[in-house]
Parts: sequence; structure tokens; C-alpha cells
Amino acid sequence: MSHKRVAILISGGGSNMVALLGSMTGDHPARPCLVLSNDAGAGGLARAAERGVATAVIDHKPFGADRAAFEAELVKPLIAARTDIVCLAGFMRVLTAGFVGQWTGRMLNIHPSLLPKYRGLHTHARALDAGDAEHGCTVHEVTPELDDGPILGQARVPVRSDDTPQTLAARVLVQEHRLYPAVLRRFCDGNREPLLLP
Ligand code: GAR
Repeated sequence: MSHKRVAILISGGGSNMVALLGSMTGDHPARPCLVLSNDAGAGGLARAAERGVATAVIDHKPFGADRAAFEAELVKPLIAARTDIVCLAGFMRVLTAGFVGQWTGRMLNIHPSLLPKYRGLHTHARALDAGDAEHGCTVHEVTPELDDGPILGQARVPVRSDDTPQTLAARVLVQEHRLYPAVLRRFCDGNREPLLLP
């Protein structure tokens, strides 16, 4: 059997990336082909290299506001690695419709809220400010609209009365590490039914 080739895009510590890498073993239908970052200082790059996964960096800063020029470089290592599926995992650059369109039906993102609530940033503080009783995370297919696209899975956590954005983020992150590998596996098997974890 030939495995699907998964590239993971990160900007930071890469804890979701580590969870995804750890899942792609044994009878899993996919294997990691690349970890790619827009930031040479991303902590996740070393964690990927330690695990024997190829890494690459395309720094977005020299491109300024020219997203398309940045993406023209970003796509090169993805193509060179013969990427089938792209997983955004804490990748903090907004992607243009032109880039997204090259990966239609083949690009996933994890977002730290129960979409469609709280697209964008500061999701944990916004859930607390709204007085929400529950919060969580979503894995979805990437479409040109930010943090939109068909939902592939969600995991929920109860909000506690003494939560801060930090404590809530930490509990959601534990769920992200359960959800993303589970959704990727199903996705690789062609199953796009939303996976709803308690
Ligand atoms: C995760 O909580 C992820 O959901 C979030 O960034 C964090 C990355 O952590 N992503 C976004 O906010 C995307 N807009 P990690 O680098 O440890 O996986």
C-alpha cells in the first residue's frame, strides 16, 4: 500500500504537529513527508527533526504584505515533498484563495474554538467574555474564508468559573491532541463525517 503523504505547517511550538506525527505509524494510511514553517524560530522544527521528519522554512517577512509572493515560495517545498494532504497546525499566516485553491479538499486546519463561534484570534478570552458554558476546538477543511469550511470534527470542554484564557487554552489543547489525529485518520480513509468527541 502506498501511504498518503502529509505535510504539516506550523508557526510555533508544534504540539499538535507532534500529536499528528505520533499518530502516523503502523497501519495508518498516511506518513509525514514534511514539516514547514514561516518562522525559523518555531520550536516545533527541532521537535520534527528529532523525530526524523524533513523540515523547511519559508520566512514570510521578506515578502511584506505580498502574500501571493510568499505563497509562491511556500508551495515549492510542498510540491517537492510530493504532498497529498496539508495539515495546518498552529500556522499563523492567513492564506490567499489562490493558495487554498491548490489544495481544495486536501487541506485541514485546527482552530481553538467551537466553530462557527470565534473565528480569528483570542478565542479563549472571547469564550470567557461571552460567558459560554462550553468551549473547545474544531478541525475543518480549509476554504478561502478564514476559519470556515466543512467541519470534520469537534471536541468540547466545560468552562469552569475560575478559568482564565490560559487555563482554558491548556484544557482545549489536550483535546486538540485527541481530535486532530483522529480526524486526520478518518479523512485519509475518505470519511468526512464530522467526528464529535465529548
Ligand atoms: C493551537 O491551539 C491551535 O489550535 C492554534 O494555535 C495553537 C498551536 O499550538 N491555532 C490557531 O489559533 C490558528 N488560528 P501548537 O503549536 O502547540 O500546536
